[in-house]
Amino acid sequence: MPAYPSPLAWIGDLLTSVFNVNAAMWNNSSGPSVVENTLLRWLAEQAGLPPSTAGCFVSGGSMANMTAVVMARDNMLPQNRRSDGVVYISDQTHMSLAKGLHMAGFCDYQIRTLPTDQNFRFDLESLSQAILTDKASGLLPFLIVGSCGTTNTGSIDPLHGLADLAEKHSMWLHVDGAYGASISLSKTNRYLADGLGRADSVSWDAHKWLFQTIGSGILLARDGRKLEKSFSMEADYIRTTRAPDGSTSFYNVSPELSRPSRAMSLWFTLKVLGHDRIGQMIDQGVILASTAEHELRRLGDWEIVSPATLSVVVFRYSPFGLVIDEKELDAMNVAISKRLIAENIAAIFTTKLRGCTVLRLCVINPLVQQENVRRIIQQMHRIAQKELALRPGLMESLISPIYLRPESLTTATAQPIAQQE
Ligand SMILES: Cc1ncc(COP(=O)(O)O)c(C=O)c1O
Repeated sequence: MPAYPSPLAWIGDLLTSVFNVNAAMWNNSSGPSVVENTLLRWLAEQAGLPPSTAGCFVSGGSMANMTAVVMARDNMLPQNRRSDGVVYISDQTHMSLAKGLHMAGFCDYQIRTLPTDQNFRFDLESLSQAILTDKASGLLPFLIVGSCGTTNTGSIDPLHGLADLAEKHSMWLHVDGAYGASISLSKTNRYLADGLGRADSVSWDAHKWLFQTIGSGILLARDGRKLEKSFSMEADYIRTTRAPDGSTSFYNVSPELSRPSRAMSLWFTLKVLGHDRIGQMIDQGVILASTAEHELRRLGDWEIVSPATLSVVVFRYSPFGLVIDEKELDAMNVAISKRLIAENIAAIFTTKLRGCTVLRLCVINPLVQQENVRRIIQQMHRIAQKELALRPGLMESLISPIYLRPESLTTATAQPIAQQE
């Protein structure tokens, strides 16, 4: 996620560093603690979470996900049956979840990675079946991890469907919104994250789509007491567990003791820009992804593998009529990405979807305009044509009327351009 930090975040960071506040304990950081609590409650409200929600700022999405895993483990599994616990993720879940699960003591055999549907969203039927099978084997399904904005395609899992299943089977629902939860602040597009507020916990990165510098992640827990259950510790040398208003010192609701006051710069940014402006800055990313998709369709020769979703569009160069081996197509798209970087045009990197190499565009910098994106796509088109010309064997095959496309990518949302038109 190529984030853009607002200059306001720089100022917030500078002040935080200058004062060097330790936001572990209320008596060391009364003001910053109030700011952090107030901001967390406001963010929770925007995500649709209830007033019982508490949370903490952590260093990023990976730490937020790990914190959620620990909380789910401690609140859902008896200590002597941890090895029977089963977790459900999708083939598009961010790798930090698997890492967090390992750090929290879970083994590979306890993690079910389930297939996604044609739009790269959790397939509810497979999930439901997997839970029933595991229950029938005497195991303890306890955690479903959904995504609000996957890294590869920006897809948002069917959050209500996941919440229904979690409720039905008395499981914990964690939603990784490291990237996509920010859409909750957009007045126009917040409907996309409908259902986020039904999660037991939500990860949310301010250093992605909330324009903060790196090191600003958020974990929200629907029931703050459950966060305390995992992270509250007593020691003779620390006695300031609670603030006068009853709120807990942050070291008791987060994995860290000494911690910077990460909330300050986001609070400062929001105070200066306001909710409406931040929402518009987020909307710009959504507009840019659809602009890119539109331009790719207009030019032709580009297969839209996953249409604009949040601020991500995934595609690949696949000229109509080209008879080409999948490996060659992959290599050509890798070459296009490399050439874009070498010529200092744009950082459009490759990823893999259903085993194929594809290009992924994600612009969340609100300073970028639609015209900039159109121009980049046009330059990329020229580069792609040059790459094709470097492969004379392929050029000849263009006259063939046969058009081969692997079944794996031929989905309702990824038709050859000519068919869509
Ligand atoms: C969906 C998602 N979850 C988690 C993460 C990990 O976040 P971080 O890099 O802040 O640890 C990322 C990073 O891109 C992400 O896109």
